[in-house]
Amino acid sequence: MILGIESTAHTFGIGIVDNGKILSNVKDSYTTKSGGIIPIDAAKHHSKCSNDVLELALKNSGIKLEDIKAIAFSQGPGLAPCLLEGLKFTKELAKKLKVPVVPVNHCIAHLEIGKITGAKNPVLLYTSGANTQIISYSSNKYRIFGETLDIGVGNFIDTFARYAGIGFPGGPKIQELAKIGKYIELPYSIKGMDVSFSGMLTNLKQKLDKGEDLNNLAKSLQETGFAMLVEAAERALAHLGKNELLLGGGVACNSRLQQMCRIMCRERKAKFFCPEKSLLLDNAGMIAYLGEIMLASGIFEKNLKKLDIKPRQRTDEVEVNWR
Ligand code: ATP
Ligand code: FE2
Repeated sequence: MILGIESTAHTFGIGIVDNGKILSNVKDSYTTKSGGIIPIDAAKHHSKCSNDVLELALKNSGIKLEDIKAIAFSQGPGLAPCLLEGLKFTKELAKKLKVPVVPVNHCIAHLEIGKITGAKNPVLLYTSGANTQIISYSSNKYRIFGETLDIGVGNFIDTFARYAGIGFPGGPKIQELAKIGKYIELPYSIKGMDVSFSGMLTNLKQKLDKGEDLNNLAKSLQETGFAMLVEAAERALAHLGKNELLLGGGVACNSRLQQMCRIMCRERKAKFFCPEKSLLLDNAGMIAYLGEIMLASGIFEKNLKKLDIKPRQRTDEVEVNWR
């Protein structure tokens, strides 16, 4: 029985996992009416809601706090003030319960949780707000085969949505507008397995300023941006000789992105996997899930003083000796 804690950005979450089964997955997210995320305010949000989230997570799982045998926490990458709040909460709880702590990489947790859908050795197309990466396991590490050279795809969509005055988060709104839009050409930018969105963002803003219909821009943003991601993912599948694609991160909630991935996989006879929404967006269920696997392979820390956050931790820095 392991408890997971997520606090890398806007979401504070607690999940409880037993033998690969998610017993509860509760979260509370910091939001703003206008503008983006202010790290210090998000951290304050986390500290304020943490006890309520814990209480609800325990209630939903039907277990008692004393049943927890270990705590997994999201160590990085993420916003330092938010990560520190998570670490503080982790240490207090670990001290109280006298249990070991498992430090978990947030990005790898997005990948490993895909196994719950049946994926065994996939290429992960990880598309969230801050991150856009193509990750896969090779020679003892999760390696990044491609990534965005500037902004994450979610931030790209959110920035354009904010510019167009349709609020945050922009992804779900753009998806709605795209349904009635017509396709127009936008800059398509991919180098090998790396992508870039800033040129398209500038072009979209210019077209909007010139009076182009927002529905058309939403449609074209999705068609162009997602085609870049699918092309990069397909190249990684071919390069690695793998035949499973896993979609992860908040932008993976987009039904058009899912559809494009499904079509590409069908055409090259690969399998396509996409977890349910509650496991796509930032959540602590995935942290507990990976934490349990790491704990079983002997990765944990009992000396709480040795624990620290890793705001800039890269996926390929993590030694993977649990598989
Ligand atoms: P990370 O720390 O992993 O980068 P994050 O907090 O930046 O995580 P997530 O919680 O994984 O991001 O996802 C949030 C993003 O998902 C936002 O940018 C939001 O616009 C986008 N999103 C949510 N639903 C949709 C959708 N239907 N279509 C496109 N984008 C979506
Ligand atoms: Fe995330």
